[in-house]
Amino acid sequence: MTQTMRQEVPRAGTRTLPAAHQVVFRAADDGARADAWRYLLCELGRAGCVAAAVPESPAGAVTLGLPAGGAAVLAIGKAVCDSAGPGCLTASVTISDPGRNTSDGLSAILAVLDSLPLTGWELARIGEQMPVTAGLAGYLGSSAFADVAVLCAIHHMRDFTAMAAALTACGARPGLITVIDKGYPYRMRGRVDGWLRHGLGASVVPYPGRVAGIRAHLDRAAAGGVRTLVFDDGGYVLPAVLDHMPDRASEIAGVVEQTMSGIWKIEPYGQLPVPVFSVAESDLKAAVEAPYVAAAATSAVADLLRDEMWAGRPALVLGYGRLGRQAARLLRDVYRMRVAVYDQQPATLVTAQVDGFAVSGSLTGTLRTHQPLLVLGSAGRGSLTGEHAGAFTSSAYLASMTSRDYEFPLSEWAERAIRVVDYGPLGHGYLMPGGIELCVLGDGLPVNFHHRESVPGRVIDLVFAALLLGGATLARPDRGGHGLGRDLACVNRTLAASPAMTSFLDRYGDDGPHRRLLTPPAGDCPDHTRLPWKYGP
Ligand SMILES: NC(=O)c1ccc[n+]([C@@H]2O[C@H](COP(=O)([O-])OP(=O)(O)OC[C@H]3O[C@@H](n4cnc5c(N)ncnc54)[C@H](O)[C@@H]3O)[C@@H](O)[C@H]2O)c1
Repeated sequence: MTQTMRQEVPRAGTRTLPAAHQVVFRAADDGARADAWRYLLCELGRAGCVAAAVPESPAGAVTLGLPAGGAAVLAIGKAVCDSAGPGCLTASVTISDPGRNTSDGLSAILAVLDSLPLTGWELARIGEQMPVTAGLAGYLGSSAFADVAVLCAIHHMRDFTAMAAALTACGARPGLITVIDKGYPYRMRGRVDGWLRHGLGASVVPYPGRVAGIRAHLDRAAAGGVRTLVFDDGGYVLPAVLDHMPDRASEIAGVVEQTMSGIWKIEPYGQLPVPVFSVAESDLKAAVEAPYVAAAATSAVADLLRDEMWAGRPALVLGYGRLGRQAARLLRDVYRMRVAVYDQQPATLVTAQVDGFAVSGSLTGTLRTHQPLLVLGSAGRGSLTGEHAGAFTSSAYLASMTSRDYEFPLSEWAERAIRVVDYGPLGHGYLMPGGIELCVLGDGLPVNFHHRESVPGRVIDLVFAALLLGGATLARPDRGGHGLGRDLACVNRTLAASPAMTSFLDRYGDDGPHRRLLTPPAGDCPDHTRLPWKYGP
């Protein structure tokens, strides 16, 4: 099943309706439209569909025979939906006769649309949002990554395409790039994946197969005579290598880690045999990214629950670190909630207290007295156990900002629940004894990635630039003075001295004449012809 087709519980009367699905994309010209036809016909062919005829014009429709009988129509035409703009097209598949195909088989056919690679036009717009990353080759040079194989565990979001493009501009060979797909339901996950595989030519490894995928990557790198540089976002690679193939750790030139979850995962290993450039702990990351992640998470909650009333009602933030501190402020100052904070470190609780939040040294006590309507978790792991779930005296929504599903041990809650209900894209409801409902938004995964993309391109630009600067540092023979394991002083020094900072300031630090709006290229747009509206004849 794909992200777009989760809520497939057939309702009475819908079983006999034809199934249909569409993807909206932007293409600059007939060539790009022809590429879309070619890709979709090829991939539908791999899914067992047979096209009756190849369309002569780039816009049109073609009838498909399905693998187990039945028929569908594949069409590409001008999009007229709300989000349509210049060059906006829609590709659709309508299954007019399901034949003997199973529901899963039909879903797989419809899902081919989701994998349509991002077009050149779309990639160019993403690149424009990330000028610091896009311009790094000018500073790092075109061979900074020529002597390494690159292994990435970065989110499959559109912004990653700009980082991947910068990697290749700095000499990384696409055939030696491997990407671990974490499988979160990002808004454009399939289309990014399509581009990584078919546009860039990288190898993509699904999360459950990551150990075998890492081994295969190391084999490819060894065959190419190079060591591996890892860009990780959550400690997916180094722990797997140290646990499953420790003798191959020497094949890793270095690891650049983007997030605290990754740092926590490698900490138990003690002295590490490879350098780990910790952008996660850098001054830059805390200053630039955390406010935007917190804003993305709180607005994701509000979007999922558009009709909920937040003002004046109680919220609880778990973990008052980089993210939690920002989120607590937003919930209080933007959503006007009464915010309490719990952190396991007493010193951090003191900070929260003097920041003006209600604090208590007991989580169970806070749950009982504060009765939060919303619990936002950013503690990193296991903050609300099954035992805590029993301490709620009112129903509540719960959302996580922490990586994967680590924040809430939901299996413990399920054991105590009378029933667990699937609310589709909203998440799950844990119906507890006593009529308390705990609604876990976005299945307990980081809510800012749930069917959306997280931080604006112009913001993550600097973080991705920092990752690439870290990678280029570790790829050098002297590693820029970075020792084995973590070396935060070196990280902060390296990033502070980088021209990427001045490049960022040159663009956004003043209100000078270089300001560039993120509007589409005017040359692609028609002239405005609509007359001002006026009432009556
Ligand atoms: N969703 C995203 O886009 C995104 C972005 C950055 C980081 N993250 C992840 O969010 C999590 C938090 O990141 P951070 O940078 O704020 O980390 P941080 O280290 O700055 O803060 C974590 C806080 O949680 C507290 N804590 C730890 N265990 C606790 C527990 N059981 N109960 C209560 N408090 C506890 C710690 O004392 C600390 O104050 C990490 O998993 C990180 O990887 C997610």
